[in-house]
Amino acid sequence: MMRIALLCLALSSLVIADPTAYFVEKFDSPDWESRWVQSTSKSDYGKFVLTAGKFYGDAEKDKGIQTSQDARFYAVSAKLDKPFSNKGKALVLQFTVKHEQSIDCGGGYIKLFPSSLNPKKMNGDSPYNIMFGPDICGYSTKKVHVILNYQGENKLIKKEIKCKDDELTHLYTLILKSDNTYEVKIDNESVESGKLEDDWALLQPKKIKDPNAKKPEDWDDNAKIDDPEDKKPDGWDKAEHIPDPEAKKPEDWDDEMDGEWEPPMIDNPEFKGEWKPKQIDNPKYKGEWVHPEIDNPDYKEDSNLYLFEDNAYVGFDLWQVKAGTIFDNVLVTDDIDYAKKFGDDTWGQTKGPETKAKEVIDKKKAEEEEKKKKEEEEKKKSEEGQKEEEAEAEEEEEEEEKDSSKSKDEL
Ligand SMILES: *[C@@H]1O[C@H](CO)[C@@H](O)[C@H](O)[C@H]1NC(C)=O
Repeated sequence: MMRIALLCLALSSLVIADPTAYFVEKFDSPDWESRWVQSTSKSDYGKFVLTAGKFYGDAEKDKGIQTSQDARFYAVSAKLDKPFSNKGKALVLQFTVKHEQSIDCGGGYIKLFPSSLNPKKMNGDSPYNIMFGPDICGYSTKKVHVILNYQGENKLIKKEIKCKDDELTHLYTLILKSDNTYEVKIDNESVESGKLEDDWALLQPKKIKDPNAKKPEDWDDNAKIDDPEDKKPDGWDKAEHIPDPEAKKPEDWDDEMDGEWEPPMIDNPEFKGEWKPKQIDNPKYKGEWVHPEIDNPDYKEDSNLYLFEDNAYVGFDLWQVKAGTIFDNVLVTDDIDYAKKFGDDTWGQTKGPETKAKEVIDKKKAEEEEKKKKEEEEKKKSEEGQKEEEAEAEEEEEEEEKDSSKSKDEL
């Protein structure tokens, strides 16, 4: 009986086992500042404010923290519910970013920090485990950073992942899996995936060039050689320039005064240039020498590339030229399906209404601009009309004056 009860307990706990979310932040309540700590590492960090922005799908659900001052650094962090290791599990880092200001230059990424972080002193030099998210600067930089700290070094992903650069909210998801693969998703769609070992320079290369191998001295890698049979034709060498045979010494030339007369030089029509022998295939050509490779003795496999033993904080540590970015729906979990559901329940719910809301304000803006343009045109027209009238009036006056002076003359 006891055993059955225990079994039932074990089974039910299996069934109701909650997905492990180490951190969930929807910024739906005004007390967000009780969880997020502003760094004081610099004295002039920009301020994050809680808002859903200029347009949104849901006035409450779409509230997030927005950068509010131009040309500032920003640095806030929040502690996870408890520090965790993702050993044997996935690690999912997910959040939404809305560059509603139409960003010109600025970071939009999140960082996952170890327990060693001091939130009050957090800054760009604070060691982190992962940095993930969009980064935009001008036309050339529009990418998604995926930086993994491996043995104390920050390693950038070798692939270029394009980020979204419009003004809507986008969902960014990074998944590291315990089989040492990864996936990056934007708006619920996979944009990059592969093996951690292939797409970051985390390990030493597997193969290296054999340091003992050398190109043999007599290795001939010239595909073509001069034809030894080819000889320079007789009479090839002719001067490049010759004295102009047509030139004549001017009659008023004074040898004593002007020096000895010399005709000007002209291009020699018979000049053939440098003679070069014909090229033929080199009979001794052995092809390009390929440096042989050997197994790299320093290569060490690591089955734990995905593993971060100590994850304790998330934070936004970035620089923005034009402020206005809203961060929301931050999730750290080991459950890929839960992250998907969380994305569907947050971003998935409000993205449609948000797009509509944006269309409405865009339309209004366009109409206002149109109205303004018309008003300005009319103003210009009426001004021009006035000027014309004035000019006409002046002309008439002048005419009258002329007439009157004429009549005076006549008199
Ligand atoms: C996300 O993708 C899944 C399929 O992988 C789909 O079932 C779901 O509807 C998508 N969610 C949104 C909000 O697009």
